[in-house]
Amino acid sequence: MKRIGVLTSGGDAPGMNAAVRAVVRTARANNMSVVGFKRGYNGMLMRSLSSSDDYFEMNSRSVSGIIHHGGTVLMTARCMEFYKEEFQRMAVRNAKALDIEGIVCIGGNGTFKGAEGLNRLGLPAVGVPATIDNDLCYTEFTIGFDTALNTAVEAVNRIRDTGDAHERVFIVTVMGRDCGDLAVHTALACGAEAAIVPEVPWSIEKLGDTVHRGVVSGKRSMILIFAEGAQASMQEDIAYLKEHYPKLHVNADKLSSSQFAEIVEAVSGHETRATVLGYTQRGGSPTANDRILATRTGAYAAKLLAQGIGGRAVGVKGNRIIDVPIEDAMKGDNFDPEFYELVGVTGYTRKAKE
Ligand code: F6P
Repeated sequence: MKRIGVLTSGGDAPGMNAAVRAVVRTARANNMSVVGFKRGYNGMLMRSLSSSDDYFEMNSRSVSGIIHHGGTVLMTARCMEFYKEEFQRMAVRNAKALDIEGIVCIGGNGTFKGAEGLNRLGLPAVGVPATIDNDLCYTEFTIGFDTALNTAVEAVNRIRDTGDAHERVFIVTVMGRDCGDLAVHTALACGAEAAIVPEVPWSIEKLGDTVHRGVVSGKRSMILIFAEGAQASMQEDIAYLKEHYPKLHVNADKLSSSQFAEIVEAVSGHETRATVLGYTQRGGSPTANDRILATRTGAYAAKLLAQGIGGRAVGVKGNRIIDVPIEDAMKGDNFDPEFYELVGVTGYTRKAKE
């Protein structure tokens, strides 16, 4: 190929800039010109009043001084219409009008769905995995996960200080959508007492027992890491909670973290507070690991296109860069039950075989 496109799409992830940089510089080293599309697939649909707001020519200098910045210089967005074939077709047509022969799509699940569509409709596309959720099964790590993890760990360290001082339980809610990877890794790295995740059924009553057991065993504070999607695997339903805890303010189907804290406090008899880390996990300077992963995967993606190869998702396994058919990249999940078990055992709240 002689000319390729690049875009970042979906939720931003620290390290996206490093990936864009690697794509552009590797493309230039392989004599390919590069067009950067803005705001993910929206740029390819060319909806702005001026084309310079949709796409621009990139050269080695366009990506100077960005490797250490969070966010993405190409900006990003979710483009729901892009799940429909008519919009994917429109994007392929626009790309061809710009003489673009292939594209690197940097993002998570939704981004890969779009890339798969482009590829099927005749524009070779390669996916580079960037999401803090680490929810793409074919790769051990996605770009941004390590930074989000370190951000969460630093925040929990601070929360532990105040928790110890007040002898409180803290619920700390981390992002991750339907995936508990970020929660389990955060819990392990912080020595949290429990991780509550969508992949493992859990019960509020048992969680209360866990907290009580921790207090009895002499713990001054306890940290419970909640994945944002954890309610999906809670065994009690809202009707049960309303019936058994009439004093609680449960007035919606989706419980907030502070409602969980109220319930844990009621069940365990121990003072409990909640903190939601939210978007702090998506920002900030990427860690060295994320920069390196982004550089390796971005460069590999550009090289695939230079050889005329599309329809692949690039990832990492056993510290080696791999590529798989993009349609396989979205199957299954990454959840590791061994990691999960370790949280309970090393948090000293559960016996090994329980
Ligand atoms: O996929 C990344 C992520 O940050 C998830 O962890 C979270 O559920 C979601 O994006 C939030 O999406 P939005 O940026 O659209 O609010």
